[in-house]
Amino acid sequence: MIVTIDGPAGAGKSSVARALAQRLGFGYLDTGAMYRAVALAGLREGVDWGRPEQLAGLARQVKLEVVGPSILLDGEDVTEAVRASEVTAVTRFAADNLGVRDRLVGLQRAVAARCDLVTEGRDQGTVAFPLAECKIFLTASPDQRARRRQADLEAQGEPVVLQQVLSDINRRDQEDVSRPVGPLRHAADAIEVVTDGLTIAQVVDRLVAIVARCRSEPRAAPCGDSPDTMEKAALQNPRPATKMGQGSTDQVRSRERNHAE
Ligand code: DC
Repeated sequence: MIVTIDGPAGAGKSSVARALAQRLGFGYLDTGAMYRAVALAGLREGVDWGRPEQLAGLARQVKLEVVGPSILLDGEDVTEAVRASEVTAVTRFAADNLGVRDRLVGLQRAVAARCDLVTEGRDQGTVAFPLAECKIFLTASPDQRARRRQADLEAQGEPVVLQQVLSDINRRDQEDVSRPVGPLRHAADAIEVVTDGLTIAQVVDRLVAIVARCRSEPRAAPCGDSPDTMEKAALQNPRPATKMGQGSTDQVRSRERNHAE
């Protein structure tokens, strides 16, 4: 089973996805760390950021491995290194690069072919796994996300002004939604969970319940899908794409929205 969790920066995706995977006994994939690792490789090789083909070529050459919550670049554990601010500053060059995205989506699908997976990022339910059995869009208000980020930075001994964090969040949101390839989008069949005012444990409890419902109510192909996609969905899911099936998915989605309000 594949559970996708997409959403903007600071919505709590990483902590929640990791805890959810643990509760379900599934593998966990942090796809943001993969984009960061390619950016780190680009920094180390001194690629010309103005020439996207250089970074795309590098992404095809390097060996990226995901081992539990760790990411290895050519065999070296770079889980901590990819969080450095110099890497964050250039990760958009990897995220905006079609060649890099093709390579990383291929790797993500290869991981999913081996095990049940909770995978988090921006395009997991839309591009990487459009037929995932359970899709979640995890979000929170910009103000709440900025306050959480400020608390994290303060805990790391880096005091910051809330207004500055809020403007960084707004800028990243803008970059995420306007990316020409793999932009952040709410998949039509994703269940939205708003995490304002909820603890990580409360969000994880809610997601465990959603996954249980996804398992008991196999998903119907959304009406807008191409015949080819619908055919694949029908092969995966023997229940025909009836109005009733679609209706039950919508009910789950609106129940979640109501909960969150
Ligand atoms: O979630 P994060 O901050 O670690 O993500 C790092 C960057 O990669 C961020 O700019 C968004 C981008 N990203 C993406 O474009 N697609 C994904 N599936 C995951 C992350």
